[in-house]
Amino acid sequence: KKRIAIFASGSGSNAEKIAEHFASDSQVDISLILTNNPQAGVIARARRLHVPVVVFDRTTFYESARIVELLQGQAIDLVVLAGFMMLIPESMVQAFPNKIVNIHPALLPKYGGKGMYGHFVHEAVVAAQETESGITIHYVNERYDEGAIIFQASCPVVATDTPEDVAKKVQVLEHKHFPEVVGQLLNS
Ligand code: GAR
Repeated sequence: KKRIAIFASGSGSNAEKIAEHFASDSQVDISLILTNNPQAGVIARARRLHVPVVVFDRTTFYESARIVELLQGQAIDLVVLAGFMMLIPESMVQAFPNKIVNIHPALLPKYGGKGMYGHFVHEAVVAAQETESGITIHYVNERYDEGAIIFQASCPVVATDTPEDVAKKVQVLEHKHFPEVVGQLLNS
């Protein structure tokens, strides 16, 4: 059985889609959802999904080995970042080589890097009058949004689109593709 840990800082809609996707798969277990945000919507979703939740703070994450030890102790095969807004420490990248994946709500390498997350990404895309945006699923290294790209999908952006409109189109792509790509990674 393959064991997945999901990190999320916000609403957790992607975490929920992934959990639902594998709910009836006897070969995959969503073992843990971890968050740095005690207010995150993902916590209530995790409870509904009967997935254990771990809330941790910045000091624990960056100045102790507790999270890495927890993941190792749970024999986690794949770490999935689904709207997780903190940089992954180098020690964790080294402990899970090519076993940490992130989803980014734009077509990297455009609109990535520190400060480019969530709504800020869609605002920048609209401000630049882009004619398309999309999603990027990539391996995680110790720099924001720079690991090797695994998968991209795009959607059109039209002149009248607001950042909210772009966010909705991107979310449709995320919910459709992220669970599938995670499944492919588990089998590769
Ligand atoms: C998603 O759009 C994800 O791509 C983005 O946060 C949102 C989380 O939504 N991630 C980043 O911006 C990471 N830099 P969710 O909490 O509803 O899954």
